[in-house]
Amino acid sequence: MDTIISNSPEDTIAAGRALAARLRAGDVVALSGDLGAGKTHFAKGVVAELGGDPSGVTSPTFTLVHEYREGSLPVFHFDFYRLEQARELRGIGWEDYLQEDGILLVEWADRFPEAFPPNTIHVRFLIGEGFQRVLEVL
Ligand SMILES: Nc1ncnc2c1ncn2[C@@H]1O[C@H](COP(=O)(O)OP(=O)(O)OP(=O)(O)O)[C@@H](O)[C@H]1O
Ligand SMILES: [Mg+2]
Repeated sequence: MDTIISNSPEDTIAAGRALAARLRAGDVVALSGDLGAGKTHFAKGVVAELGGDPSGVTSPTFTLVHEYREGSLPVFHFDFYRLEQARELRGIGWEDYLQEDGILLVEWADRFPEAFPPNTIHVRFLIGEGFQRVLEVL
């Protein structure tokens, strides 16, 4: 497990960039942590590193998934916050997305841990004092 200490939103974006640099098509990244922990900032870093526009990256809370296709690999950015039952995943086409040659990045992934393949990269965000965030990658 890697532990990353972030002291600013920019640090969290940089952590997303660092992870993205070693991602390959088909990788799934599960983000978990409380409201405001920095999951979306991390997602901005992932999209930016792959050549997309981070300014357009927001939590897909109501749409459930945003697709960023302008970079070297498509990024499918999910938010499970509003899903109540695992069977709703079928409705958003989750199984089909798992077959895509892109990156799946999921906020509130711990809502449905059973939805994730065994090789998923997990990033847990813990909120510290002030601007501090502790990111555990495993
Ligand atoms: N070290 C930090 N890393 C990331 N964000 C930070 C940090 N310190 C403070 N913040 C602030 O915390 C908030 C993080 O917001 P962000 O949308 O990334 O969180 P989130 O985990 O996606 O939340 P949500 O569950 O609501 O989608 C922002 O307002 C940001 O400015
Ligand atoms: Mg978010």
